[in-house]
Amino acid sequence: MEVAVHVQHVRFAEPEAIRTTAKRRNFERVMSKLSSYGEYASGEYLEYQKKYAAQIRESDRVIIEMVRDIVKRRGEGRSLSLVDIGCSSGNLLYHLKRQVPGLVLHGGDAFPGIVEACRQNPELEGISFDRMDLLDLDGRPRFDIVIVNAVLFLFAEPDFDRAIVNIASVTKGGGDFITFDLFHPAEQELLIIEKSETHPEGLNLHLRPFSIVRCAL
Ligand SMILES: C[S@@+](CC[C@H](N)C(=O)[O-])C[C@H]1O[C@@H](n2cnc3c(N)ncnc32)[C@H](O)[C@@H]1O
Repeated sequence: MEVAVHVQHVRFAEPEAIRTTAKRRNFERVMSKLSSYGEYASGEYLEYQKKYAAQIRESDRVIIEMVRDIVKRRGEGRSLSLVDIGCSSGNLLYHLKRQVPGLVLHGGDAFPGIVEACRQNPELEGISFDRMDLLDLDGRPRFDIVIVNAVLFLFAEPDFDRAIVNIASVTKGGGDFITFDLFHPAEQELLIIEKSETHPEGLNLHLRPFSIVRCAL
């Protein structure tokens, strides 16, 4: 069998143009992932979180006990300020408000819809909310206690390092940082791509060894 191939005159793009196009495509891919994660975080995930307002999650229970210990140790009759960055529906803040009175509570999330939903929730009255992006916390005030719960696994390097530097910049000297995330004792960095009905395009989950986290702090 003969196959005739007709080759047209093709002009290849200059290497610089290829790189520029690749960069732009990568940027568009990252941005579309971000907005689809934002849609998920502001919609379906907020719905999913509702059950944990009624029934406290085990990880939230552990964090609340840590905060109680800090207040005993450092409170000395004054109100400590606490921020939960990536607060989603504000469940942890809701439980803190009821269980550890006297804290000045603040919540932040990257997505405006989430911040607005928290502001509109009467159960969260007395807690202030603000748009806060862990990748850009320039000029933010400092807090006595900073909590980042189940957010850092979303970041690849170098965003993970940037987030840690930013967290340090909003933590008062001698303050406390509490994080609950996908960290493990084995010396392995793992990337899991979750492909599911919720994330058909794939959501990258970054699992890190404790040692990397210790170095970053
Ligand atoms: C898996 S949820 C965890 C929510 C909550 N902390 C909890 O423990 O249930 C991740 C949260 O991080 C928020 N988030 C994602 N990227 C962020 C960023 N760059 N800065 C601040 N929040 C972010 C999302 O909007 C979402 O509310």
